[in-house]
Amino acid sequence: MKEKKSERSVIGIFDSGVGGLSVWRELFKELPFSDFIYLSDNAFCPYGSRKQQEIVDRVIKAVDFLIKKDVSVIVIACNTATAAAIETLRKNYTIPFIGMEPAVKPAAIHSATGVIGVLATQATFKGKLYNNTLEHFASDVKVIQQAGAGLVEAVEHDLTDSPQTAELLKNYIMPMVEAGADHIVLGCTHFPFLADQIRIVAGNGITIVDPAPAVARHTRNVMAEKGLLQDKLFSTEGRTLFFSTGETAMLQKIALSIKPGIPREDFIRIII
Ligand code: DGL
Repeated sequence: MKEKKSERSVIGIFDSGVGGLSVWRELFKELPFSDFIYLSDNAFCPYGSRKQQEIVDRVIKAVDFLIKKDVSVIVIACNTATAAAIETLRKNYTIPFIGMEPAVKPAAIHSATGVIGVLATQATFKGKLYNNTLEHFASDVKVIQQAGAGLVEAVEHDLTDSPQTAELLKNYIMPMVEAGADHIVLGCTHFPFLADQIRIVAGNGITIVDPAPAVARHTRNVMAEKGLLQDKLFSTEGRTLFFSTGETAMLQKIALSIKPGIPREDFIRIII
């Protein structure tokens, strides 16, 4: 770790696609002097309907790529990849991993109606992580679970404002509203990019819970623990390089909407 002090430490961020950008936007706010490498596995997105082993194989390829780029910490900014692979990763690598998990706990704690909705992918709902979280933190509330089929694709293909997406959201969110949910947990990192559209269906009385700010704070704590925080070492803002196994157009569009001015050459297509 010591030799890292002389250079900036880099944080790796991984998602099946553009969804992890909802975590990146919180990470660079929390860690403004850190550099980031964002990797989107766009060519294999969506993960949500894939078999667990297939997801694990892709995640291992992604992690190996990020490690070759000399990252110090890896944020698996994908609930589905976390659910499928985080145990395997922690068993096989020494680098610290920060994963995503649906924010069921804060929603359950703060719910006044005792009903919460969770929107995630099928693979996340099947995972041990989600089911353990339910068991430990949501035994006193009613949980309305909904797999958001088609929503990851809507974000990836710039269809967040299309009538088809509005129809999907109506079908997914209305049953939660009708059941009395006062919190909707976004259990997929793509879904914060649909927050405005979800709000239209859910109305203003429902709290939409995005776990990304908590994940960014946790990442900062992990960095501090490992002696990798750079606030005092560097006074210039960090840089992010974006890699994608497929198209980079949506990655550029969303990243630039979050942080204008990123040069075109910082978006790089790769094969892994
Ligand atoms: N962003 C991923 C997640 O958080 C999307 C999964 C997918 O590719 O289906 O679950």
